Amino acid sequence: MPSYVPVPKAELHLHIEGTLEPDLAFALAERNGVTLTHADALTLRNAYAFEDLQSFLTLYYELMSVLVTEDDFAALAEAYLKRAAEQGVRHAEIFFDPQAHTARGVSFGTVIRGLDRALARSEERHGISTRLIMSFLRDRPVSSALDTLAEAQPYLELITGVGLDSAEVGFPPELFTEVYARAAALGLRRVAHAGEEGGPEYVIGALDALGVERIDHGLRAFEDPALTARLVRDAVPLTLCPLSNVRLRTVGTLEEHPLPAMMAAGLKCTVNSDDPSYFGGYADDNYTAVRDALGLSSEDLRTLARNSFEAAFLEDDEQLRSRYLAEVAAHRF
Ligand code: ADE
Ligand code: ZN
Repeated sequence: MPSYVPVPKAELHLHIEGTLEPDLAFALAERNGVTLTHADALTLRNAYAFEDLQSFLTLYYELMSVLVTEDDFAALAEAYLKRAAEQGVRHAEIFFDPQAHTARGVSFGTVIRGLDRALARSEERHGISTRLIMSFLRDRPVSSALDTLAEAQPYLELITGVGLDSAEVGFPPELFTEVYARAAALGLRRVAHAGEEGGPEYVIGALDALGVERIDHGLRAFEDPALTARLVRDAVPLTLCPLSNVRLRTVGTLEEHPLPAMMAAGLKCTVNSDDPSYFGGYADDNYTAVRDALGLSSEDLRTLARNSFEAAFLEDDEQLRSRYLAEVAAHRF
């Protein structure tokens, strides 16, 4: 029996802090003299039962206290890239949450230099091209996002785009209009989480007020036929995260996920892992889970993989995009 080869894919919705595995968290805690509230890695993993987005975010931010030095951020990114390569990821656009670190006294430079150390050798070591997307925490003041954009200025060479994440409901995209206008003026690409827990109006706001080029999640956009028609017409990519949706209870079970209907409606869907350490699977685990639960065909999986490269921010290297698309076309399931 030939061994299973995952389809080549781009991962476009991945929070690097959400790749922190319990074992690494405890190793870093010991190295940095940080005390975690959970006794050990097993107890911690058992705590990964979430009610909703907020209950996840509380643990997600708490565990970040173990990330202190450049070495820690480099180790985190290196561990992700190794796992991602095993899952067929050939290109990764990686979110990071600078405010979650600067707010506890870790400098922007420490975070980005550490991440860049792993990313800079990723093509050579793991065969994965990478981009970094700096995400603003929407449940913190807009002034904090503006400060973060200013702190990023010396590192713009390393940053491809900006995103918007954290607690969605009550923090509409329109709040960040000025932040996104400034980011666009700096030549940064724009994405935002929208329609994860928030309704279709959050997706409309991200498109109209923020000028985003992709929607992260976008699950609830499908509740609005006019919005769906707009997203289809404009071929706006959605970075869906099926296992995340189940764990955060935005869908009841994977079998009820609207992905097949969304694809059939003509939406440009991609499948991603979001916070794989917390949600039970990396990129290809999401692909195989939707295949098994929703009966997606090999050609459906090929479409998802093709969409991921077409939606990637690879305009500066169209040759690389073409090479990846050829790999997808040639893949034997
Ligand atoms: N930060 C990390 N994961 C997130 C998610 N799924 N939604 C919003 N913010 C996040
Ligand atoms: Zn996310």
